[in-house]
Amino acid sequence: MNVYLGLDIGTTNIKMLLVDERGSVVKSMSHPLELSAPRPAWAEQDPEDWWNGVWTLLSSVPSDMNVLRIGLSGQMHTLVPVDDDGTVLRKAILWCDQRTSAECDEATAAVGGEDKIIEMTGNLIYPGFTLPKILWIRKNEPEVYGRIRTCFIAKDYIGWRLTGERAAEWSDASGSSCYDISARRWRSDLLRTLGIDEAWLPPLKGSSDVRGKLRPELASKLGWKQAEVVCGGADNAVAALGLGVCSPGDCMISIGTSGTVLAATESTSPDPTGRLHFFNTVLPGQSYYMGCMLAAAASLNWFKDTMGKSLSWDEIEKGINEIPVGAEGTLWLPYLNGERTPHRNPNARGVLYGLSSMSDERHVFRAVMEGITYGLRDSFELVKAATPVKRVLLVGGGSKNATWRRMVAANVKAPVSIPLVDEGGAYGAAMLAALGGGVSLDEVKGWIKIHETVEPDSEESAAYDKVYPQFRALYADLKERFDATAGM
Ligand code: XUL
Repeated sequence: MNVYLGLDIGTTNIKMLLVDERGSVVKSMSHPLELSAPRPAWAEQDPEDWWNGVWTLLSSVPSDMNVLRIGLSGQMHTLVPVDDDGTVLRKAILWCDQRTSAECDEATAAVGGEDKIIEMTGNLIYPGFTLPKILWIRKNEPEVYGRIRTCFIAKDYIGWRLTGERAAEWSDASGSSCYDISARRWRSDLLRTLGIDEAWLPPLKGSSDVRGKLRPELASKLGWKQAEVVCGGADNAVAALGLGVCSPGDCMISIGTSGTVLAATESTSPDPTGRLHFFNTVLPGQSYYMGCMLAAAASLNWFKDTMGKSLSWDEIEKGINEIPVGAEGTLWLPYLNGERTPHRNPNARGVLYGLSSMSDERHVFRAVMEGITYGLRDSFELVKAATPVKRVLLVGGGSKNATWRRMVAANVKAPVSIPLVDEGGAYGAAMLAALGGGVSLDEVKGWIKIHETVEPDSEESAAYDKVYPQFRALYADLKERFDATAGM
């Protein structure tokens, strides 16, 4: 059987999908990944672990499957610095790492301030983005810096291991802080100002362009005929393609480790406040606005792992439904690792507020799920103000939970559709593989089916409307306190 292979280099796992020529998933596998946090709010991974995971997954492709093409998706912004021989010089610094505040400020000042950086790259420089990490290495690890010859973003490193070709593409370049969103080129002037060698950034291609052929020695070890590898894209942009979020007004809300709200747009103007990201999609000529929360499902998982170990997810959901909206005054600010949208505050931290002697774990879990949802609502409100939203698709681990689906619909006050196939970036990556072989966009869009649409309940919406302002106010009240306690 001929198949397209989609690979997604995620934060908690690497996922592989085999998809037949009609878009049906014939095999889905994943390989877990560890995350190391050598200091609070730092996040690193060893790219060799990604490669071992990729290799384990590729080796498990059944011999009766003929892989036509491989598509890639991966965590955005994550930096992999390599030397002349392609040796990885230090662990990858991840999208959720918050160590680079000083470098963000310095780079912004060096290029002429916030308005200027938005004009040049469509975005403010955020601590998780790629460029400030290069500057951080220059300042803190000069030995490493002196040996850098290529700066890869996560999936481009894997693309290079698979093909031997150095390539980058638009959707991930968008989150680098050194890319011109409208001209779709690296921003040479900015790199010059900051003294970074542009040759370190791989040549740019389109997301469905072929990156190269699978290296013959790998193909022969796997016992495969030759397969091509397409460039692929940033996980959010690729996941959006996988849902058919391809026309202006299509919106995706994703509750994964991070939480993202993105909408494809016709607009060519960045958010002038820089609170929303403005990035290229994986399709030529299209962009999207996105808000990103750093700890969405990650914050619920953290609670379960630290305080709810003995509870099953079913027990947690049952408990949440026994407690009214607002969790009787309990609120959760989901800022375990600082926050990007809407606060842009690496110093923000998680806050559980309003406990009483009557509270139990049901209040806490309800407040945590609500707090994450209010964080998504913050992004949704900004996205909706930037571009019209016509339909909303909900994906990610959180979308598998019926209570959470209802909560999101009631908060965004719009019908929320759940796709039949929700495999994150891996499905979109398989679609990119098909597009790379000349299959039309209309044909791959025809693969997508909706499983269920959840309508907002107006009474619930009204109840959430009373609590949401309290959630917003709590952050405002604590904002300065977060700065005062930073680094303590
Ligand atoms: C988006 C972002 C995250 C990662 C997760 O800007 O940083 O959603 O892409 O892998």
